[in-house]
Amino acid sequence: MIGDEMSEFIGSKRGAWDGEPRPLHLAPMSGVTDLPYRLLAKECGADITITEFTNSTALTREAATSWRRMETHETEVPFIPQIFGGDPGDMATAAEMLAPAADIIDLNFGCPAPKVTNICAGAALMGEPDRLVSMVETIVERVDVPVTAKMRLGTGQSANNSTEICKRLESVGAQRLCIHGRTLKQRYSGEADWSSIKQAVEEVEVPVVANGDVVDASSAKACLTHTGASGLMIGRGAIGRPTVFSDIKVGLGWMELDRLPWVANHDDWHGLSEAGQAFASRKWCWDRYIHLSEATIGLQGKWMQRHAIAFTKGLPGAKKVRTLMHEQATIKDMAEAISGFLASPV
Ligand SMILES: Cc1cc2nc3c(=O)[nH]c(=O)nc-3n(C[C@H](O)[C@H](O)[C@H](O)COP(=O)(O)O)c2cc1C
Repeated sequence: MIGDEMSEFIGSKRGAWDGEPRPLHLAPMSGVTDLPYRLLAKECGADITITEFTNSTALTREAATSWRRMETHETEVPFIPQIFGGDPGDMATAAEMLAPAADIIDLNFGCPAPKVTNICAGAALMGEPDRLVSMVETIVERVDVPVTAKMRLGTGQSANNSTEICKRLESVGAQRLCIHGRTLKQRYSGEADWSSIKQAVEEVEVPVVANGDVVDASSAKACLTHTGASGLMIGRGAIGRPTVFSDIKVGLGWMELDRLPWVANHDDWHGLSEAGQAFASRKWCWDRYIHLSEATIGLQGKWMQRHAIAFTKGLPGAKKVRTLMHEQATIKDMAEAISGFLASPV
């Protein structure tokens, strides 16, 4: 088995949490985690980022739109593409096609969307554990980069099986496991169940990353204390708020507030109101997002619109952002209009 190489990006299992830094992961999110956004999240304190999930069958057919989602850049280290699919052969072929550029390949067993579960992919595979495990085993055998997997607690139709699946995946060579503490049936409702994640953390030797409802320093602290997980993954809390990673690191004493670029480069950060600070940090993030887009995939209207809505959500005056965007003649103008909005708190 050549998939045995240890990755410097995975590390080893950590024990009970003693307050020390553990890696923070930006969750893979379809329609959110494009390449410049992943690079921005890194600049804002994320340690590990993962692409949005991509259909393995489409990749094997060389579908251009799917390959575009897998775009990376030399500055993206590590590069972790995530794939999903119901066909083990296509999953393995797609993994082989990605392996030369990838540092790690991540497999999705968590997606609850019907268009994914209907092809027995994503979280539906948790209802067919033998199929899931043999799929991972084949992929580990066929690629020479580490393989990791992200799953839910189970389907919610029968008893949760994430701990059992984690144990079996560890035995076939998966090197890191991430659990979102909800079932397929729950989708995004209810609270994430960290106790079930803790059980898996205790029963496997590979690192387990905890995911679900971590949104700030206090929830990060509670989740690490409760689960002893080797790392945390943050999804919705990072939409429009890539600074959530540094908020957590500062809040847990892992880094100094004054080292953050939007603080260090501001004349009077500490004199700003809470809203003023939100505008200032989001302006810094927006300008960097635009810069990182220009430096990599180019300005993409669709992505910019989504992020502009998310970046300005909850800020006073945010309602006018949609109109403001539609009034602009070019996407460059749109980039500047959003930057202008964030420059002048109302
Ligand atoms: C808009 C959106 C898109 C998502 N896309 C993916 C995806 O492509 N791959 C994946 O493994 N999970 C995906 N997820 C699930 C997240 O990675 C994460 O597991 C989930 O949101 C729970 O974490 P949170 O409570 O921090 O948001 C998505 C979630 C959201 C909200």
